[in-house]
Amino acid sequence: MNGILRWIAACMLAGLCQTVAIGAQPASGSAAALYSQHCAACHGPDRLGGMGPALLPESLERLRSAELATVLREGRAATQMPGFAGQLGDTELNDLAAWLRTGPANSPQWAAADIRASHVVYHAADSLPARPTFNADPANLFLVVEAGSHHISVLDGDRLEPIHRFRTRFALHGGPKFSQDGRYVFMASRDGWVSKYDLWNLTFTAEIRVGLNTRNVAVSDDGKWVLAGNTLPQTLVLLRADDLSLVRIIDVRGRDGQASRVSAVYDAAPRHSFIAALKDIAEVWEIPYAGAGADAVSELKRIALDDVLDDFYFDQSYAHILGASRDGGGQVVDLTQGRKVADLALSGMPHLGSGITWVRDGHEVMASPNLKQGNISVIDMQSWRTVATVATNGPGFFLRSHENTPYAWADAMMSPKRDTLQLIDKQTLAVVGSVTPSPGHTAAHVEFTRDGRYALVSLMERDGAIVVYDACTLREVKRIPMDKPIGKYNVFNKTTRSSGTSH
Ligand code: HEC
Repeated sequence: MNGILRWIAACMLAGLCQTVAIGAQPASGSAAALYSQHCAACHGPDRLGGMGPALLPESLERLRSAELATVLREGRAATQMPGFAGQLGDTELNDLAAWLRTGPANSPQWAAADIRASHVVYHAADSLPARPTFNADPANLFLVVEAGSHHISVLDGDRLEPIHRFRTRFALHGGPKFSQDGRYVFMASRDGWVSKYDLWNLTFTAEIRVGLNTRNVAVSDDGKWVLAGNTLPQTLVLLRADDLSLVRIIDVRGRDGQASRVSAVYDAAPRHSFIAALKDIAEVWEIPYAGAGADAVSELKRIALDDVLDDFYFDQSYAHILGASRDGGGQVVDLTQGRKVADLALSGMPHLGSGITWVRDGHEVMASPNLKQGNISVIDMQSWRTVATVATNGPGFFLRSHENTPYAWADAMMSPKRDTLQLIDKQTLAVVGSVTPSPGHTAAHVEFTRDGRYALVSLMERDGAIVVYDACTLREVKRIPMDKPIGKYNVFNKTTRSSGTSH
């Protein structure tokens, strides 16, 4: 079966391609009526998705209004999304666009019964061969997320060649997460689907829809649990990792009862716990899983903060969380003591979430790019003082390195020099080189091969590529065409929690 057929079959199995049951007809001519008539068959009568993605305000958050208008008018080339310019007038299209930005009168529900009903197991746990079906180092594979057409390419990191490409759910959110042995990959999609993929057999094994809008998933270090963080509904959903069956749903509410969206979930492997960062309340949650049975989350621990954390970094041991606050400034929270232990001097808008650490002059330092200013802040991880501010070409998003390479690679994605990456010497903190893979094309998100010898850079456009550099000589060694390769993930670097990449 080709990819699309397989995907449609998967939808049918998952009960997605149901016939549309239209209830009370809204007044004709209204946006709601236009939706029922023209869109509901694909996007679902309740806008929760079907063959096409969910169309709730939360789903469309990242779509700019000009893009939304273009999609409605022209559709999306090479997808099932048709253009409506010929059928509907400008006023109708504008009304539809505005209506899509408002939520349904009753907040959509997604309860345990809905989650359970969506669960599909394609291959029972342990039913497939426990060895790779291909001839490549399974620990030096890369997953490249191609957001353009919702695919993942599997790259052999030694030969630097794709060995497989498969379709994913619409719009993956957060990076794919590997089981400790590198065999399984867990991914979450914007619309709430959690999928488990067997990388040795190159096939999906199970899927479940945990919510209507999901941030990301984390997998426990012991390989038993998967935790998903949702923004709609405002829940955490705990699954069994073997078959993705539902274990429990945790409502996310602060001590005062206020509900909150989840901003992200993490596996704090050294602590044998999950950590949930929350978007609307000044708390961080820790959920220990060591030795836990079905009650894996009974000891939920709340850590109260002074302020809601917008963006944060965990140190390598997960003893501390470094957070930036919405109104500027930052704090260091000791997760064991459960309290703030220091303030951070931060300016602009540091992107702590893509911070990295290394040892310099016997001190562990952490460096992170800045979304508003052309600089990289370097913080001493013991005194929590900013020891240097390195000027760069412009505001950037990612900073990446590897234990075996002397440079940290910084992009300037949010600036006119978005086509150029700069290399910072991790000891002198001087900018010592730069690469411009394709003038005018956005270059960002570096990930290294397991030995740190090659750096893989994304050209982010739809007709983009992965450009491979020799990390010492900065010579380009290869260019592999990709459809909007927004991220790439090396099995070894992720499962060993390399200090040069985010986890
Ligand atoms: C025949 C099926 C079909 C119909 C009918 C349809 N859509 Fe779609 N629509 C899709 C698919 C499939 C996609 C995903 C395209 C892609 O892969 O980017 C999509 C994407 C979209 C998107 C972009 C979502 C995003 O997050 O990027 C919007 C907005 C949208 N549709 C609105 C509508 C509206 C409004 C109507 C009715 C006027 C409609 N669609 C009718 C199938 C359909």
